[in-house]
Amino acid sequence: MRVVTPAARLEGTLRVPGDKSASHRALILSALANGSSVLEGLSEGEDVRSSAGILSALGARVEWGSDLVTVEGPSEGLRATTLDLDCGNSGTTMRLMSGVLAGVEGRHRLVGDASLSARPMDRVARPLSLMGAFVEGVGERVHAPLLVTGRASLEGIEYEVPVPSAQVKSAVLLAGLHASGVTVVRETVRTRPTTERMLLAAGADVDIDESESGRRVVVRASRPHPRHWRVPADPSQAAFFVVLGVLHPDAVIHLEPMDDAPERIGFLHVLERMGAQLEVTTSEEGVRVTARSSHLRATEISSREIPSVDEVPILAVAAAGATGRSYFREMGELRLKESDRFAGSLRLAAALGCEVGSEGDDFWIEGRGDPQRFAPLALDAGLDHRMVMSSAVAGVVGQGARIEGESTVSSSYPHFFEDLDGLRA
Ligand code: S3P
Repeated sequence: MRVVTPAARLEGTLRVPGDKSASHRALILSALANGSSVLEGLSEGEDVRSSAGILSALGARVEWGSDLVTVEGPSEGLRATTLDLDCGNSGTTMRLMSGVLAGVEGRHRLVGDASLSARPMDRVARPLSLMGAFVEGVGERVHAPLLVTGRASLEGIEYEVPVPSAQVKSAVLLAGLHASGVTVVRETVRTRPTTERMLLAAGADVDIDESESGRRVVVRASRPHPRHWRVPADPSQAAFFVVLGVLHPDAVIHLEPMDDAPERIGFLHVLERMGAQLEVTTSEEGVRVTARSSHLRATEISSREIPSVDEVPILAVAAAGATGRSYFREMGELRLKESDRFAGSLRLAAALGCEVGSEGDDFWIEGRGDPQRFAPLALDAGLDHRMVMSSAVAGVVGQGARIEGESTVSSSYPHFFEDLDGLRA
């Protein structure tokens, strides 16, 4: 259990960890390449370590230095293993790796922790089976342990991703690197473009078409080249500190440049709409944000603004501190994350003393008007890193927090509590 105390004042500059999404993909694309790649700024979270461990078991050489990671992709390509491939808590690892393994001849077994084993894998099993791989799991929603039987040559498909999901899009694109003909993935709601952009940067045969109606990505069989990857900072981690800065009554927090993909920074627009005092500057290095103490007012938030819904739990804390009733619309996907974050966000706001309610996939939170009016928080975060960090922020700006399950923060942000405490002035 972790006890978090309120802070009198917060001040400082922070570089949050390397983007988790880009880190998984930099490892994967380097392992698929023939030769040696250098990875800079990689996330040190356990999720990314899980991906690295699996790629090593498949024949890539991964060496962790103090600042740089080097990855040597085997010239003959990744090879099958009968070892259990442990994805830990990481949905990104299991879904992206399914796409990779679909193109590696042999039978592979992917396992995960209790949280991951409760998450549906049918969303990747379906398109990968259409491409000629065989993906089996437990029950109708295809839960882990997952058996992926890969084939050296898959068939290209045209696939419209039925739920906005960068992980599903990416699994199909990665399998498409080993497919005959063309593989086309369409999305009507644009999700983070990390995979297609990085495939392009690595010289794979990819086209990206943006239009009014969404995005279309086309990939043909090709092999990524080895290269030097520079991983930007993770906006979904910065979001905790942006909300911390705006909710706290005496705070100035500067965040060093982070990934600027529009699909990743929707939370900044939501907070600005709520009256947050943010200085947002964009440069070649990414988006830099300064967050200052603000009075927030309620707003209406659609999942389309935040396609992965990763920042919803921390925006629920922002709504809990705002004046008025905030509405969160079309938030069904929250139920399928590391924990049921739909229920978790409501539980968190209610534990802070807010009135809350829900109907179907929508929910609302009646803000306390001032985080000083939060109740002292006691929450079990389960196996969900974002629920830990959201609770900690609520505790620092409010009346403290007692958090069970805090160690799960290491899946994405091992130094979170040190960084948080470093801002206490
Ligand atoms: C991710 C995609 C998102 C997000 C996750 C990382 C990725 O999941 O929630 O934290 O790296 O592709 P979905 O694809 O389920 O939206």
